[in-house]
Amino acid sequence: MEAIKKHFPIFRHQKDLIYLDSAATTQTPQVVIDALTAYYTNYRANVHRGFYALATKATNAYESARDSVAHLIKAKREEIIFTSGTTMGLNSLAYSLSPRLSHRDNVVLTRLEHHANLVPWQEMAKHYGFELRFIELKKYELDLESAKKLIDANTKIVSFTLVSNVLGNITPAEELIRLVRQKAPRALAIVDAAQAIAHLPIDVKKLDCDFLVFSGHKMYGPTGSGALYGKKMLLDEHLEPFFFGGEMVRSVSYESADWMPSPHKFEAGTPNIAGAIGLGAAADFIMKLGWKKIQNHESELTAHALKKLKNEVTIIGPVRNRIGVIAFTIPGVHPHDIADILNQKKICLRAGYHCAEPLHHYLNISATARASFGIYTTKKEIDALAKGIQKIKKMFL
Ligand code: ALA
Repeated sequence: MEAIKKHFPIFRHQKDLIYLDSAATTQTPQVVIDALTAYYTNYRANVHRGFYALATKATNAYESARDSVAHLIKAKREEIIFTSGTTMGLNSLAYSLSPRLSHRDNVVLTRLEHHANLVPWQEMAKHYGFELRFIELKKYELDLESAKKLIDANTKIVSFTLVSNVLGNITPAEELIRLVRQKAPRALAIVDAAQAIAHLPIDVKKLDCDFLVFSGHKMYGPTGSGALYGKKMLLDEHLEPFFFGGEMVRSVSYESADWMPSPHKFEAGTPNIAGAIGLGAAADFIMKLGWKKIQNHESELTAHALKKLKNEVTIIGPVRNRIGVIAFTIPGVHPHDIADILNQKKICLRAGYHCAEPLHHYLNISATARASFGIYTTKKEIDALAKGIQKIKKMFL
Protein backbone atom coordinates (compact mmCIF):
# COMPACT_ATOMS: atom_id res chain seq x y z
CA MET A 1 0.00 0.00 0.00
CA GLU A 2 3.05 2.29 0.06
CA ALA A 3 2.34 2.54 -3.71
CA ILE A 4 -1.12 3.92 -3.03
CA LYS A 5 0.30 6.43 -0.56
CA LYS A 6 2.22 7.95 -3.47
CA HIS A 7 -1.09 9.11 -4.95
CA PHE A 8 -1.54 11.41 -1.92
CA PRO A 9 0.88 14.37 -2.00
CA ILE A 10 0.31 15.27 1.65
CA PHE A 11 2.45 12.30 2.65
CA ARG A 12 5.36 13.77 0.67
CA HIS A 13 4.94 17.18 2.25
CA GLN A 14 4.34 15.92 5.80
CA LYS A 15 7.05 13.33 6.02
CA ASP A 16 6.29 11.56 9.32
CA LEU A 17 2.57 12.09 9.29
CA ILE A 18 0.51 9.19 10.65
CA TYR A 19 -2.97 10.13 9.62
CA LEU A 20 -5.59 8.08 11.44
CA ASP A 21 -8.57 10.41 11.11
CA SER A 22 -10.02 9.43 7.75
CA ALA A 23 -13.51 9.12 9.25
CA ALA A 24 -13.41 12.88 9.82
CA THR A 25 -11.92 13.62 6.41
CA THR A 26 -9.83 11.57 4.03
CA GLN A 27 -6.74 12.93 2.31
CA THR A 28 -6.82 14.01 -1.35
CA PRO A 29 -5.18 12.06 -4.18
CA GLN A 30 -3.31 13.92 -6.92
CA VAL A 31 -5.98 13.04 -9.52
CA VAL A 32 -8.60 14.94 -7.52
CA ILE A 33 -6.28 17.91 -7.00
CA ASP A 34 -5.55 17.85 -10.75
CA ALA A 35 -9.26 17.83 -11.59
CA LEU A 36 -9.86 20.85 -9.35
CA THR A 37 -6.83 22.68 -10.74
CA ALA A 38 -7.79 21.94 -14.33
CA TYR A 39 -11.20 23.51 -13.84
CA TYR A 40 -9.77 26.62 -12.21
CA THR A 41 -6.85 27.01 -14.59
CA ASN A 42 -8.20 25.79 -17.94
CA TYR A 43 -11.93 26.08 -18.26
CA ARG A 44 -13.57 27.94 -15.40
CA ALA A 45 -17.02 29.09 -16.45
CA ASN A 46 -20.51 28.73 -15.06
CA VAL A 47 -22.51 25.61 -15.95
CA HIS A 48 -25.80 25.25 -17.87
CA ARG A 49 -25.82 28.95 -18.70
CA GLY A 50 -23.28 29.89 -21.34
CA PHE A 51 -23.36 29.28 -25.08
CA TYR A 52 -19.60 29.66 -25.53
CA ALA A 53 -17.13 26.78 -25.76
CA LEU A 54 -15.60 27.32 -22.32
CA ALA A 55 -19.00 27.14 -20.63
CA THR A 56 -19.87 24.01 -22.60
CA LYS A 57 -16.64 22.41 -21.42
CA ALA A 58 -17.45 23.27 -17.79
CA THR A 59 -21.01 21.93 -18.18
CA ASN A 60 -19.76 18.71 -19.76
CA ALA A 61 -17.23 18.16 -16.96
CA TYR A 62 -19.87 18.86 -14.31
CA GLU A 63 -22.38 16.48 -15.90
CA SER A 64 -19.75 13.84 -16.51
CA ALA A 65 -18.95 14.01 -12.77
CA ARG A 66 -22.62 13.18 -12.19
CA ASP A 67 -22.13 10.05 -14.33
CA SER A 68 -19.11 9.02 -12.25
CA VAL A 69 -20.95 9.50 -8.96
CA ALA A 70 -23.99 7.60 -10.29
CA HIS A 71 -21.71 4.79 -11.43
CA LEU A 72 -20.15 4.54 -7.94
CA ILE A 73 -23.49 3.70 -6.30
CA LYS A 74 -25.14 2.07 -9.34
CA ALA A 75 -27.72 4.82 -9.73
CA LYS A 76 -29.01 6.61 -12.83
CA ARG A 77 -27.39 9.97 -13.54
CA GLU A 78 -30.66 11.87 -13.09
CA GLU A 79 -30.97 10.40 -9.59
CA ILE A 80 -27.86 12.26 -8.35
CA ILE A 81 -28.17 15.72 -6.84
CA PHE A 82 -24.95 17.51 -5.95
CA THR A 83 -24.89 18.85 -2.40
CA SER A 84 -22.33 20.33 -0.03
CA GLY A 85 -22.22 17.03 1.84
CA THR A 86 -24.17 14.61 4.01
CA THR A 87 -25.37 17.31 6.40
CA MET A 88 -26.94 19.28 3.57
CA GLY A 89 -28.44 16.11 2.09
CA LEU A 90 -30.08 15.11 5.37
CA ASN A 91 -31.26 18.63 6.20
CA SER A 92 -32.73 18.99 2.71
CA LEU A 93 -34.66 15.75 3.12
CA ALA A 94 -35.85 16.68 6.61
CA TYR A 95 -37.03 20.13 5.46
CA SER A 96 -38.64 18.83 2.30
CA LEU A 97 -40.38 15.73 3.66
CA SER A 98 -41.46 16.84 7.14
CA PRO A 99 -44.31 19.21 6.16
CA ARG A 100 -46.27 16.11 5.05
CA LEU A 101 -46.06 14.66 8.56
CA SER A 102 -48.36 15.29 11.52
CA HIS A 103 -48.68 14.37 15.19
CA ARG A 104 -50.07 10.96 14.22
CA ASP A 105 -46.85 10.01 12.43
CA ASN A 106 -43.47 8.81 13.56
CA VAL A 107 -39.94 8.95 12.17
CA VAL A 108 -37.65 6.08 13.10
CA LEU A 109 -33.92 6.67 13.60
CA THR A 110 -31.36 4.56 15.43
CA ARG A 111 -29.28 5.03 18.56
CA LEU A 112 -26.20 5.22 16.33
CA GLU A 113 -26.93 8.40 14.45
CA HIS A 114 -24.51 11.24 13.85
CA HIS A 115 -25.93 14.64 14.87
CA ALA A 116 -26.58 15.34 11.17
CA ASN A 117 -29.15 12.55 11.08
CA LEU A 118 -30.68 13.46 14.41
CA VAL A 119 -30.87 17.21 14.98
CA PRO A 120 -32.70 18.06 11.69
CA TRP A 121 -35.42 15.53 12.60
CA GLN A 122 -35.61 16.84 16.19
CA GLU A 123 -36.12 20.35 14.85
CA MET A 124 -38.76 19.24 12.33
CA ALA A 125 -40.54 17.20 15.03
CA LYS A 126 -40.91 20.41 17.07
CA HIS A 127 -42.66 22.09 14.12
CA TYR A 128 -44.79 19.24 12.79
CA GLY A 129 -45.46 17.28 15.97
CA PHE A 130 -44.35 13.82 14.79
CA GLU A 131 -42.77 11.34 17.17
CA LEU A 132 -39.11 10.30 16.98
CA ARG A 133 -38.31 6.67 17.71
CA PHE A 134 -34.90 5.04 18.05
CA ILE A 135 -33.94 1.50 17.12
CA GLU A 136 -31.96 0.06 20.04
CA LEU A 137 -28.56 -1.61 19.94
CA LYS A 138 -27.66 -5.07 21.11
CA LYS A 139 -23.94 -5.58 21.68
CA TYR A 140 -23.22 -2.54 19.49
CA GLU A 141 -25.31 -3.92 16.58
CA LEU A 142 -28.70 -2.63 15.46
CA ASP A 143 -31.37 -4.76 17.11
CA LEU A 144 -33.83 -5.73 14.38
CA GLU A 145 -36.28 -7.03 17.02
CA SER A 146 -36.46 -3.50 18.37
CA ALA A 147 -36.95 -2.21 14.80
CA LYS A 148 -39.86 -4.65 14.37
CA LYS A 149 -41.55 -3.21 17.44
CA LEU A 150 -40.94 0.44 16.52
CA ILE A 151 -41.86 0.51 12.84
CA ASP A 152 -45.61 0.57 12.34
CA ALA A 153 -48.28 1.81 9.95
CA ASN A 154 -47.71 5.39 11.16
CA THR A 155 -44.00 5.31 10.37
CA LYS A 156 -43.39 7.74 7.51
CA ILE A 157 -39.60 7.87 7.44
CA VAL A 158 -36.84 5.53 8.56
CA SER A 159 -33.44 7.21 8.41
CA PHE A 160 -30.31 5.40 9.49
CA THR A 161 -26.59 5.13 9.02
CA LEU A 162 -24.97 2.39 6.94
CA VAL A 163 -21.80 2.52 9.06
CA SER A 164 -21.49 4.05 12.51
CA ASN A 165 -18.90 6.83 12.64
CA VAL A 166 -18.07 5.80 16.21
CA LEU A 167 -18.45 2.02 16.46
CA GLY A 168 -17.48 1.26 12.86
CA ASN A 169 -20.20 -1.37 12.52
CA ILE A 170 -21.98 -2.00 9.23
CA THR A 171 -25.71 -1.96 9.84
CA PRO A 172 -28.03 -4.60 8.32
CA ALA A 173 -29.39 -2.06 5.86
CA GLU A 174 -30.99 -4.44 3.36
CA GLU A 175 -32.79 -6.34 6.10
CA LEU A 176 -33.95 -3.17 7.78
CA ILE A 177 -35.31 -1.74 4.53
CA ARG A 178 -37.11 -5.03 3.81
CA LEU A 179 -38.70 -4.72 7.23
CA VAL A 180 -39.74 -1.14 6.48
CA ARG A 181 -41.41 -2.31 3.24
CA GLN A 182 -43.34 -5.00 5.14
CA LYS A 183 -44.42 -2.98 8.15
CA ALA A 184 -44.80 0.51 6.67
CA PRO A 185 -45.14 0.20 2.89
CA ARG A 186 -45.53 3.94 2.42
CA ALA A 187 -42.55 4.93 4.56
CA LEU A 188 -39.41 6.32 2.97
CA ALA A 189 -36.05 4.75 3.75
CA ILE A 190 -33.09 7.15 3.96
CA VAL A 191 -29.52 5.87 4.23
CA ASP A 192 -26.67 7.96 5.61
CA ALA A 193 -23.70 6.54 3.71
CA ALA A 194 -21.15 9.14 4.87
CA GLN A 195 -18.91 6.59 6.59
CA ALA A 196 -19.60 3.77 4.15
CA ILE A 197 -19.00 5.44 0.81
CA ALA A 198 -15.20 5.01 0.64
CA HIS A 199 -15.17 1.57 2.25
CA LEU A 200 -18.04 -0.56 0.91
CA PRO A 201 -19.49 -1.08 -2.54
CA ILE A 202 -22.99 0.40 -2.52
CA ASP A 203 -25.74 -0.62 -4.90
CA VAL A 204 -28.75 1.60 -4.31
CA LYS A 205 -31.04 -0.67 -6.32
CA LYS A 206 -30.07 -3.73 -4.29
CA LEU A 207 -30.38 -1.78 -1.05
CA ASP A 208 -33.76 -0.53 -2.24
CA CYS A 209 -33.33 2.70 -0.29
CA ASP A 210 -35.41 5.71 -1.33
CA PHE A 211 -32.66 8.22 -0.62
CA LEU A 212 -28.97 7.92 0.17
CA VAL A 213 -26.57 10.71 1.09
CA PHE A 214 -22.81 11.02 1.34
CA SER A 215 -19.94 13.52 1.42
CA GLY A 216 -16.99 14.07 -0.88
CA HIS A 217 -14.54 14.74 1.92
CA LYS A 218 -14.90 11.20 3.27
CA MET A 219 -14.21 9.58 -0.09
CA TYR A 220 -10.97 11.28 -1.15
CA GLY A 221 -12.92 14.13 -2.74
CA PRO A 222 -13.06 17.87 -2.00
CA THR A 223 -14.54 19.31 1.17
CA GLY A 224 -17.92 20.97 0.66
CA SER A 225 -18.98 18.44 -1.97
CA GLY A 226 -21.40 15.55 -1.75
CA ALA A 227 -24.43 13.91 -3.27
CA LEU A 228 -28.00 13.02 -2.53
CA TYR A 229 -29.36 10.01 -4.39
CA GLY A 230 -33.13 9.69 -4.74
CA LYS A 231 -35.21 7.16 -6.68
CA LYS A 232 -36.19 8.85 -9.91
CA MET A 233 -39.92 8.56 -9.34
CA LEU A 234 -39.55 10.17 -5.90
CA LEU A 235 -37.41 13.01 -7.20
CA ASP A 236 -39.87 13.63 -10.04
CA GLU A 237 -43.12 13.32 -8.14
CA HIS A 238 -42.62 13.36 -4.41
CA LEU A 239 -39.77 15.59 -3.36
CA GLU A 240 -40.22 19.35 -3.51
CA PRO A 241 -37.21 21.53 -4.31
CA PHE A 242 -35.50 22.75 -1.16
CA PHE A 243 -33.81 25.84 -2.61
CA PHE A 244 -35.17 28.26 -5.14
CA GLY A 245 -33.38 30.53 -7.59
CA GLY A 246 -31.57 30.50 -10.90
CA GLU A 247 -31.25 27.43 -13.12
CA MET A 248 -33.71 25.23 -11.18
CA VAL A 249 -36.63 26.97 -12.92
CA ARG A 250 -38.14 26.29 -16.32
CA SER A 251 -40.10 29.54 -16.50
CA VAL A 252 -40.74 32.37 -14.09
CA SER A 253 -43.29 35.16 -13.96
CA TYR A 254 -43.74 37.85 -11.30
CA GLU A 255 -46.40 35.63 -9.77
CA SER A 256 -44.96 32.12 -9.89
CA ALA A 257 -42.45 29.68 -11.33
CA ASP A 258 -42.22 26.09 -12.44
CA TRP A 259 -39.29 23.74 -12.19
CA MET A 260 -36.79 22.01 -14.42
CA PRO A 261 -36.85 18.22 -14.36
CA SER A 262 -34.82 16.50 -11.63
CA PRO A 263 -32.01 16.62 -10.73
CA HIS A 264 -31.75 20.23 -11.92
CA LYS A 265 -34.76 21.39 -9.94
CA PHE A 266 -32.77 20.59 -6.82
CA GLU A 267 -29.64 22.52 -7.80
CA ALA A 268 -30.57 26.19 -7.49
CA GLY A 269 -27.90 28.81 -7.99
CA THR A 270 -24.33 28.38 -9.15
CA PRO A 271 -23.28 25.03 -7.73
CA ASN A 272 -19.91 24.04 -6.29
CA ILE A 273 -18.72 23.27 -9.83
CA ALA A 274 -15.11 22.47 -8.95
CA GLY A 275 -16.32 20.43 -5.97
CA ALA A 276 -18.62 18.33 -8.15
CA ILE A 277 -15.85 17.78 -10.71
CA GLY A 278 -13.48 16.79 -7.89
CA LEU A 279 -16.13 14.47 -6.45
CA GLY A 280 -16.46 12.79 -9.84
CA ALA A 281 -12.67 12.36 -9.99
CA ALA A 282 -12.74 10.81 -6.49
CA ALA A 283 -15.49 8.38 -7.55
CA ASP A 284 -13.38 7.41 -10.59
CA PHE A 285 -10.33 7.00 -8.35
CA ILE A 286 -12.20 4.57 -6.08
CA MET A 287 -13.62 2.62 -9.02
CA LYS A 288 -10.19 2.40 -10.62
CA LEU A 289 -8.61 1.05 -7.42
CA GLY A 290 -11.44 -1.46 -7.26
CA TRP A 291 -13.47 -2.64 -4.30
CA LYS A 292 -11.58 -5.89 -3.97
CA LYS A 293 -8.28 -4.13 -3.35
CA ILE A 294 -9.84 -1.54 -1.06
CA GLN A 295 -11.75 -4.04 1.03
CA ASN A 296 -8.92 -6.58 1.24
CA HIS A 297 -6.52 -3.92 2.42
CA GLU A 298 -8.90 -2.34 4.89
CA SER A 299 -10.13 -5.57 6.43
CA GLU A 300 -6.56 -6.78 6.89
CA LEU A 301 -5.70 -3.46 8.48
CA THR A 302 -8.71 -3.54 10.79
CA ALA A 303 -7.97 -7.09 11.91
CA HIS A 304 -4.36 -6.08 12.57
CA ALA A 305 -5.44 -3.02 14.57
CA LEU A 306 -7.99 -4.94 16.64
CA LYS A 307 -5.34 -7.54 17.45
CA LYS A 308 -2.71 -4.93 18.34
CA LEU A 309 -5.03 -2.78 20.42
CA LYS A 310 -7.26 -5.28 22.17
CA ASN A 311 -4.91 -5.80 25.13
CA GLU A 312 -3.94 -2.13 25.36
CA VAL A 313 -7.28 -0.31 25.31
CA THR A 314 -11.02 -0.85 25.69
CA ILE A 315 -12.40 -1.05 22.18
CA ILE A 316 -15.87 0.45 21.84
CA GLY A 317 -17.42 -1.44 18.97
CA PRO A 318 -17.92 -4.92 17.54
CA VAL A 319 -15.17 -7.28 16.40
CA ARG A 320 -16.88 -8.40 13.19
CA ASN A 321 -18.86 -6.83 10.38
CA ARG A 322 -17.12 -3.54 10.71
CA ILE A 323 -14.82 -1.13 8.96
CA GLY A 324 -11.60 0.53 10.11
CA VAL A 325 -13.15 3.05 12.47
CA ILE A 326 -11.99 2.08 15.94
CA ALA A 327 -13.15 4.02 18.97
CA PHE A 328 -11.49 3.21 22.25
CA THR A 329 -10.90 4.34 25.80
CA ILE A 330 -8.04 3.91 28.22
CA PRO A 331 -9.51 3.84 31.73
CA GLY A 332 -7.98 6.69 33.72
CA VAL A 333 -6.83 8.71 30.68
CA HIS A 334 -9.02 11.35 29.06
CA PRO A 335 -9.37 10.84 25.27
CA HIS A 336 -8.30 14.46 24.72
CA ASP A 337 -5.01 13.65 26.47
CA ILE A 338 -4.61 10.55 24.28
CA ALA A 339 -5.03 12.61 21.12
CA ASP A 340 -2.83 15.40 22.42
CA ILE A 341 0.07 13.13 23.34
CA LEU A 342 -0.16 11.14 20.11
CA ASN A 343 -0.13 14.43 18.21
CA GLN A 344 3.37 15.02 19.56
CA LYS A 345 4.37 11.95 17.51
CA LYS A 346 2.49 13.30 14.47
CA ILE A 347 -0.21 10.68 14.96
CA CYS A 348 -3.57 12.27 14.14
CA LEU A 349 -6.75 10.85 15.61
CA ARG A 350 -10.00 12.30 16.82
CA ALA A 351 -11.17 12.45 20.44
CA GLY A 352 -14.50 13.43 21.96
CA TYR A 353 -18.03 12.57 20.90
CA HIS A 354 -17.38 12.46 17.14
CA CYS A 355 -20.67 14.33 16.52
CA ALA A 356 -22.56 11.46 18.16
CA GLU A 357 -23.00 12.65 21.74
CA PRO A 358 -26.26 10.79 22.47
CA LEU A 359 -24.65 7.49 21.41
CA HIS A 360 -21.87 8.03 23.97
CA HIS A 361 -24.44 8.71 26.71
CA TYR A 362 -26.48 5.68 25.60
CA LEU A 363 -23.37 3.49 25.92
CA ASN A 364 -22.51 5.15 29.21
CA ILE A 365 -19.13 6.41 28.03
CA SER A 366 -17.97 9.96 28.60
CA ALA A 367 -15.89 10.27 25.40
CA THR A 368 -13.69 8.15 23.16
CA ALA A 369 -10.52 8.38 21.12
CA ARG A 370 -11.00 7.16 17.54
CA ALA A 371 -8.52 5.86 15.00
CA SER A 372 -9.89 5.56 11.48
CA PHE A 373 -8.26 4.29 8.34
CA GLY A 374 -8.15 5.03 4.64
CA ILE A 375 -6.75 3.23 1.63
CA TYR A 376 -3.32 4.79 2.37
CA THR A 377 -3.09 3.55 5.98
CA THR A 378 -0.39 0.95 6.68
CA LYS A 379 0.20 -1.69 9.33
CA LYS A 380 3.37 0.17 10.33
CA GLU A 381 1.26 3.19 11.22
CA ILE A 382 -1.01 1.07 13.35
CA ASP A 383 2.03 -0.36 15.10
CA ALA A 384 3.17 3.21 15.81
CA LEU A 385 -0.26 3.93 17.30
CA ALA A 386 -0.01 0.86 19.54
CA LYS A 387 3.47 1.94 20.67
CA GLY A 388 2.20 5.47 21.36
CA ILE A 389 -0.62 4.05 23.46
CA GLN A 390 1.80 1.92 25.47
CA LYS A 391 3.82 5.07 26.25
CA ILE A 392 0.67 6.94 27.32
CA LYS A 393 -0.24 4.12 29.66
CA LYS A 394 3.24 4.23 31.20
CA MET A 395 2.88 7.99 31.72
CA PHE A 396 -0.58 7.90 33.26
CA LEU A 397 -1.06 4.56 34.94
N1 ALA B 1 -18.58 13.10 10.83
C1 ALA B 1 -17.16 13.21 10.91
C2 ALA B 1 -16.55 12.33 11.97
O1 ALA B 1 -17.12 11.35 12.34
C3 ALA B 1 -16.71 14.62 10.98
O2 ALA B 1 -15.47 12.63 12.43
